[in-house]
Amino acid sequence: MKLILVLFCFIIVVFGKTTKKPDNPPPPKVPCEGVHVNGTLHRRHIIMNGLNRPYQLAVYNHEHKIFFSYNAGEDTQDTFGIAYVKINDTMPTEILGIKNGFAVAVDEHNKTAYFGGSDGIYKDNLVKSHGLQHIVKELDIWDLQIFNHHLYFIQYPSQRLHKYDIKENVTTIEEHIQEKIYQFAIDGDGDTFITTRDGLFEIKKGENHRIPYVGPKVFRAIEVNHKGVAHFCAKSAVYVAHKENHTLVEIASIKNIFGITFDSSDHIIYSNPHEIVKLLPHECK
Ligand SMILES: *[C@@H]1O[C@H](CO)[C@@H](O)[C@H](O)[C@H]1NC(C)=O
Ligand SMILES: *[C@@H]1O[C@H](CO)[C@@H](O)[C@H](O)[C@H]1NC(C)=O
Ligand SMILES: *[C@@H]1O[C@H](CO)[C@@H](O)[C@H](O)[C@H]1NC(C)=O
Ligand SMILES: *[C@@H]1O[C@H](CO)[C@@H](O)[C@H](O)[C@H]1NC(C)=O
Ligand SMILES: *[C@@H]1O[C@H](CO)[C@@H](O)[C@H](O)[C@H]1NC(C)=O
Repeated sequence: MKLILVLFCFIIVVFGKTTKKPDNPPPPKVPCEGVHVNGTLHRRHIIMNGLNRPYQLAVYNHEHKIFFSYNAGEDTQDTFGIAYVKINDTMPTEILGIKNGFAVAVDEHNKTAYFGGSDGIYKDNLVKSHGLQHIVKELDIWDLQIFNHHLYFIQYPSQRLHKYDIKENVTTIEEHIQEKIYQFAIDGDGDTFITTRDGLFEIKKGENHRIPYVGPKVFRAIEVNHKGVAHFCAKSAVYVAHKENHTLVEIASIKNIFGITFDSSDHIIYSNPHEIVKLLPHECK
């Protein structure tokens, strides 16, 4: 009996001790999870999820507006649409009137958005919208890019690069690029990058020679940031070019990346089959 009583007291004492709160509880730990970009940990800030394959991205930083194209039909059908999300939006806003909208580009300086679909290119003023203007007709547009105040696009199915002179309202084919291309970019040095079925090639400014790049052969997107650095997205990583030895250097490993763009501070914004995500430096210990 005595022994049981002693044991009982002992249990109470032990129990009492373990439930007693320490005087200075340690602060809750911020989990150090995320994605390394250029060797620095970044957290994934989800801008929007529940999306149906957001493909191409373009940001109007002035209003924190992110335009994207997406799959508008069944997974097996090639029907596309364009929408945008703004800060604190819970739902995207669809842009109506573009047939099979797939390509997006924003001219931040001139506050204009360009949308490419299966019947050409539309333009919209982002300050004072006068409705969509149908500026290029009867061409199926695969990709749209703005460099040096010119609008470049890749036409489908020819996959040839075209240039549209916005002021003159004239479209010309880029004769110096005869290849069928998937992506195209001009970086801050004025050098051109093209991707073909054989991989990635660089054409130095004012030259015609194709310099092949070692590394991945299939890409999802190429985008140039505000500093003029081209970023190459393969299926599961983002790369920058090492222009001296003509290789791609991986800067971030991201699964199933679809599209990429940059905010005004050059933080990466990317899409995967269901989300649009921004990568922000992670402050954690
Ligand atoms: C990553 O580092 C490269 C090389 O320093 C730089 O050019 C590029 O802008 C960086 N990209 C990002 C997203 O930090
Ligand atoms: C977004 O929401 C946050 C938190 O509710 C608020 O502080 C911020 O002002 C909002 N931003 C805009 C642009 O509405
Ligand atoms: C955009 O702005 C630049 C510089 O102000 C100007 O030269 C160019 O013509 C503008 N382009 C269009 C299409 O408005
Ligand atoms: C631009 O040219 C196309 C024909 O190539 C024409 O249909 C369209 O109306 C023109 N747009 C403007 C603004 O002049
Ligand atoms: C090219 O340069 C980068 C950066 O210095 C280096 O990581 C890479 O190993 C080099 N590749 C080759 C093939 O020399």
